[in-house]
Amino acid sequence: MPLDLSTTICGKKLSTCIYNASGPRTGSSDALSKVASSRSGAVLAKSATVNEQTGNPLPRTFQADGKGSLNSEGLPNKGIDYYLSQDTIEESMGESGKPYFVSISGHNLADNLAMLKKIDSVDGVSGVELNLACPNVIGHPIIAYDFDQMDAVLSAVSKLKLQKPLGVKLPPYFDGPHFAAAAKVLNKYKSSISYAASINTVGNALVVDTVAEMPAISPKGGFGGLSGPAVKYTALANVKKMRDLLDETIDVVGVGGVETGEDAFQFLLCGAAAVQVGTKHWIEGAKCFDRIVGELEELMEKKGYKSVGEFRGKLKPWSKEGASKSRKAKKMSGGGNTRAEQAKIPVGKGGILPTIIVSFLLGLLLATAGFSAAGGDVTMGGFVPFGSLLKIHDGLEGARMGGKKKREL
Ligand code: DHB
Repeated sequence: MPLDLSTTICGKKLSTCIYNASGPRTGSSDALSKVASSRSGAVLAKSATVNEQTGNPLPRTFQADGKGSLNSEGLPNKGIDYYLSQDTIEESMGESGKPYFVSISGHNLADNLAMLKKIDSVDGVSGVELNLACPNVIGHPIIAYDFDQMDAVLSAVSKLKLQKPLGVKLPPYFDGPHFAAAAKVLNKYKSSISYAASINTVGNALVVDTVAEMPAISPKGGFGGLSGPAVKYTALANVKKMRDLLDETIDVVGVGGVETGEDAFQFLLCGAAAVQVGTKHWIEGAKCFDRIVGELEELMEKKGYKSVGEFRGKLKPWSKEGASKSRKAKKMSGGGNTRAEQAKIPVGKGGILPTIIVSFLLGLLLATAGFSAAGGDVTMGGFVPFGSLLKIHDGLEGARMGGKKKREL
C-alpha cells in the first residue's frame, strides 16, 4: 500500500501535503509549471498587485551562511491579470490537475477588494491567499500587526461573500497576547476564512557586511524579511499556537524554514494541514518538492505511519520517557547532544582537534588547486576554507548557484 501524503485545503484535495510558498520562483508561468510538474501538492503564485511592478532596487536579496536569507523585493510581479489569465493558468498547470492558488498583496484595501472581486469569477483558480504580512513595501507597516486594521480589512473582505476560498498569510507573532489577539480577529471572520498560513518572513532583519561595513542589501536601509532555517522554530511555534487558538474550521498551513521531510513532519505534528516551502525552493529549484516528499515518506515508513492523518496535530507533551527514548535513539545513530555530534562531524578517538586540523589541511590543498564550488562556500568538517560565509544575490530571480546565474521571477 502506498503511503497517503494527501491533504485537503480550501475544500480541494492536494496529492501531497507539501507545496510552494508564494515568493521566489512563482512569478511566471514558466516557474510555476516546474512546481506543477514536481511532487508539490498544489501551485501558489507570487503575491500580485493590481498592476505589474518591478519592486525595490537591487540588490534586494541575500543568502547568509545557509541559515538565513534576507529579502526586500518590494513585490515585483506581473500584475493580477497575468496570474488570472487562462493562458497563464494553462501554461503553469498543464495537465497536472493540481489546485492553483493565487496570492494578493494590494497597496491598500481598495486594491485588495478589487483584486478579490476579479479572482472570484475566474475558472481554474482554487483559492486566494491574502497577504497581510508583507514587511517590504516602503511606507506600509505590516497589516496583521495592527489588529484594528486587520479587523477592518477582514470585515470588508467578508462582506464580499466570495465564492472562492480565502487564506490569509500571517506574520510571525512572538508574545502570548499577540497570538491571542490575532486569533480572535481571525475567528471573528471564520465563515470567510479557509486557512491561515504561518509565517511570513520575520520582518525588518538586518545583515551587515563586515568587509564593506554596510548593509548586505540596498532597499529600506538594508532592512528586509528573514527566512530560511533561522526562522523555523518561530514558525513551528506560530503553527502550534494558531492551531490551538483558531476555530477548527480554519486550517493552519505551516511555512518557514522547511528544508527537509523531517522539517515538514514537525510542522504536521504541530497541526499544519499542509506545509509550504519558500526559501529552499528558491535555492534548490522545484526538484526540492520531490526530495522533501520522498524524505517525508521515508520518515513515515520508519515510524510506521501510513497516512499524514495518523500523526497530524499529535505533538505530545514533554515527558521523561520521551526524552530517554530520544537520547537512546541518538546514541544508536551515533548522534548526540554536543554540536559536533549533532552535525555528524566524524570525531576520531583523539577528539575533535585532529578532525579540524585534517579539514584545514584539506581546505588548504583544495584552495591551492583552485577548487571552488557553490561560490567557494563549501564547508568541510565544519571548517570553511577561504570562502566567505556570506553569499550575495542581486535579486530573488538572480540566484547564483554553482557559478551559473539563473534568472527566474
Ligand atoms: C515580498 C515579501 C514578502 O514577505 C511577501 O509576503 C510578499 C512580497 C516582497 O518583498 O516582494
